[in-house]
Amino acid sequence: MQVAVVGSGYVGLVAGACLADLGHDVVVVDNDQAKLAALNRGEVPIHENFLPELLHRHRGTRLKFSDDLESAVRASSAIFVAVGTPPTEQGEADLSYVESVARGIAGAIDGYKVVVEKSTVPVYTCDWVRRIIQRNGAETDGFDVASNPEFLREGTAVTDFLYPDRIVIGADTDRCARVLREIYAPLADGSYYDRPDAIPRPDRAMIPPPLIVTSAKSAELIKHASNAFLAMKISFINAVASICESVGANVQQVCQGIGTDSRIGQRFLNPGIGYGGSCFPKDLMAFRAVARECGYDFRLLDEVMRINEDQRQRFIRKVRSALWTLRGKKLGVLGLAFKGGTDDIRESPAILLIQSLQQEGCQISAYDPAAHDRAREALNSGITFAESAYEAAHDADALLILTEWEEFAVLDLKRLREELKYPIIIDGRNLYDPDVMAAHGFTYYSVGRPASSPEPQPVPTPERPARKNAKL
Ligand code: UGA
Repeated sequence: MQVAVVGSGYVGLVAGACLADLGHDVVVVDNDQAKLAALNRGEVPIHENFLPELLHRHRGTRLKFSDDLESAVRASSAIFVAVGTPPTEQGEADLSYVESVARGIAGAIDGYKVVVEKSTVPVYTCDWVRRIIQRNGAETDGFDVASNPEFLREGTAVTDFLYPDRIVIGADTDRCARVLREIYAPLADGSYYDRPDAIPRPDRAMIPPPLIVTSAKSAELIKHASNAFLAMKISFINAVASICESVGANVQQVCQGIGTDSRIGQRFLNPGIGYGGSCFPKDLMAFRAVARECGYDFRLLDEVMRINEDQRQRFIRKVRSALWTLRGKKLGVLGLAFKGGTDDIRESPAILLIQSLQQEGCQISAYDPAAHDRAREALNSGITFAESAYEAAHDADALLILTEWEEFAVLDLKRLREELKYPIIIDGRNLYDPDVMAAHGFTYYSVGRPASSPEPQPVPTPERPARKNAKL
């Protein structure tokens, strides 16, 4: 099928490349000429597993890049809208890009088209997009608007697209649902997975994935409610971790105990320094605003956000209680990205923590495997970027672990201890076993688990002859 994808950001680019891999002819439309030129030259603007392979595989054949929305709409049966929906100052989603694309699509409709919302949007957006397209001259039966939310995580977006837990199609007519079913047929009927060149199957992937057809409004709600639920799970376990710290319990054991209940599950139950990224913080605020507009006061979401912010304050307090005063302290920092496996620093708790620590007068030497360039733009001077975890630790008063990169979980502990001025680690991601750290000579603080420190060595006492008349 011929499809257009409007917007070449994370979602648009990944969706475009994956739809091409399913066998469709895809044109990705953007109005950013520099970005289009870079994509046409073969550059890959984002750090995403398997994306370079897919772009290389399909660029210039099944995957094209263009600034011509009108021609792309004319040539396509389905047009996926994947433009940004940044938050306004009030926390609502700014839908002006979506509206302007809808106007552009309206002028080009020359036969039946399905306009598919791929961006995360509030529950009434489908209706508005339909109205805008009609207002701008399209016949009512010349198009349908569908919602096909994405559940891509940065870093694993390609495999999340090709091996999804589910495909949600929000369509209000059978004709519209048929078009989307056909687009996803290679995944839903499993034929994609039989191909020798299919992107490798990740652990836990269920194939073929279920395809769920709902109304457009339900699909819009599924996206916001999914992200809000996942964020709630993280805040919940962070709150439990705080209680564990107060009473000396171990949140890891608690997680194991509750996560093995299949109704709860182990995933997204890792406590830390709070969630970040371009999705959860923005989507929670937007969902809160949508609920308010619909007349429902969704205060549970306020609390999820409050716990998330509080988690960073608690971490600062932990650093202070480990080091006493902060002014002039040199801190090694591992991790700048909002999570491991990405160079994205948007709403990164690591960046927010570094800024707070700098305000307290700390000197920071940071290392991240992918996010230096982006962090350099976001952080003022006064931070040194190290070439490795060991260089970041060199001569530091303590080492902070702020992002869950896999390479931070397998450091050479002996070498790390030699680099640090004092063997103190404050781990915001619980990457190490406290007992192992103590055995390696570290004083180790983590989240929701008792701090550990090396056993005090018994002081050797010289043998003395027993004194006469000594009182026993
Ligand atoms: C999230 C969702 O997981 C995707 O399903 C969704 O499609 C996407 O948002 C989106 O709306 O586009 P993403 O923002 O890439 O994906 O990142 P996650 O892997 O969900 O992590 C979000 C944050 O939560 C990170 O800061 C991470 O460190 C934190 N986190 C995650 C925890 O603190 N604990 C956990 O157990 C899991």
